Amino acid sequence: MQDKKRVLSGIRATGRLHLGNYLGAVKGMLELQNNSSYETFYMVADLHTLTTPYNPETLKKNVNEVVLDYLACGLDPEKSTIFIQSAVPAHSELAFLFSTVMTVARMQHLPTFKDKATQYPENVTMALLNYPVLMAADILLYKADSVPVGIDQEPHLEISREVARKMNEKYGLNFPEPVRFETSGAYIPSLLGEGKMSKSIKGSFINLTDDLATIKERLARVPTDSGKGENVPEKGGVAVLFTLIELFLGKEKSKDYEKKYLGEGIRYSDLKDSLAEAIFAELAPIQEKRTKLAQDPKLVEEIIKKGNIQANKVAQETLLQVKKGMGIV
Ligand code: ADP
Ligand code: TRP
Repeated sequence: MQDKKRVLSGIRATGRLHLGNYLGAVKGMLELQNNSSYETFYMVADLHTLTTPYNPETLKKNVNEVVLDYLACGLDPEKSTIFIQSAVPAHSELAFLFSTVMTVARMQHLPTFKDKATQYPENVTMALLNYPVLMAADILLYKADSVPVGIDQEPHLEISREVARKMNEKYGLNFPEPVRFETSGAYIPSLLGEGKMSKSIKGSFINLTDDLATIKERLARVPTDSGKGENVPEKGGVAVLFTLIELFLGKEKSKDYEKKYLGEGIRYSDLKDSLAEAIFAELAPIQEKRTKLAQDPKLVEEIIKKGNIQANKVAQETLLQVKKGMGIV
């Protein structure tokens, strides 16, 4: 019997990480890693990357980039098992076994599936439909109860809980029902003022690797208003700026700006400058660490190798339990 609570999370290898990924997912991963009551497993979800159009020639490089981002942000191989999803074959095997308890109708109705089907009408594949089932396998292989991800992943976690319940009822297993680990940045809005910050929406994001000048440029494009009014807007560019101010400069500063908005008015050029500097102050040490790590590919390779071995060990145990429960072995 495991004595610590387990955590699992992952990010697809679809490009460089942005502030939304950092605040919504990675910060939660760090918090749980640094809490000794948890045993943490963090992977690069390269199999999930295959469910939307991708380039096979750059996939491996992108996987490596996510590992570098993880390590630069502070994921620590001494505390967390850092691994690559496809290097643990049990993920695919368990996903197939889990797919036997989920209906096509249930999967087709998920909002995340519908969104991706609209975005890539030529790519509505079995793999896309099965995406949340593979994610359930990722989480439940490690019997994780806690999953640090952004709020957009909630429908997927609901599926993981359903799979856990069904497998437990049907086959007498003991899967936990995993819940999302909430961070204060669970939903970072797009810099365009509408929707969420996302790497697939141009102009919506700030990357973790952006320098100060780039951050300033990106913030300069956030749409604003006259700088004063009777209520601070809850939507649009101004609301985005307030969200980021609260996260990077703190509640007090956000309250000060709120007072200004209701009173003498805000000069957005000053506000955007302070915000850019605060964001860069948090990103600069991450960038320094990343540059150093990128010069030591052997070290990164060793970390992944060790992580893959550890993950395989835990995953094999769970897979065997499921196979026994289902009468395969
Ligand atoms: P993207 O939408 O940019 O492709 P992913 O889907 O790869 O991002 O998400 C990776 C992780 O980052 C997930 O845990 C997701 O919930 C989180 N995340 C992505 N965008 C945001 C955001 N705007 N706010 C908070 N968390 C986010
Ligand atoms: N679906 C997640 C995303 O788009 C990535 C992911 C795959 C994941 N498997 C996971 C996240 C398991 C948490 C746990 O970001």
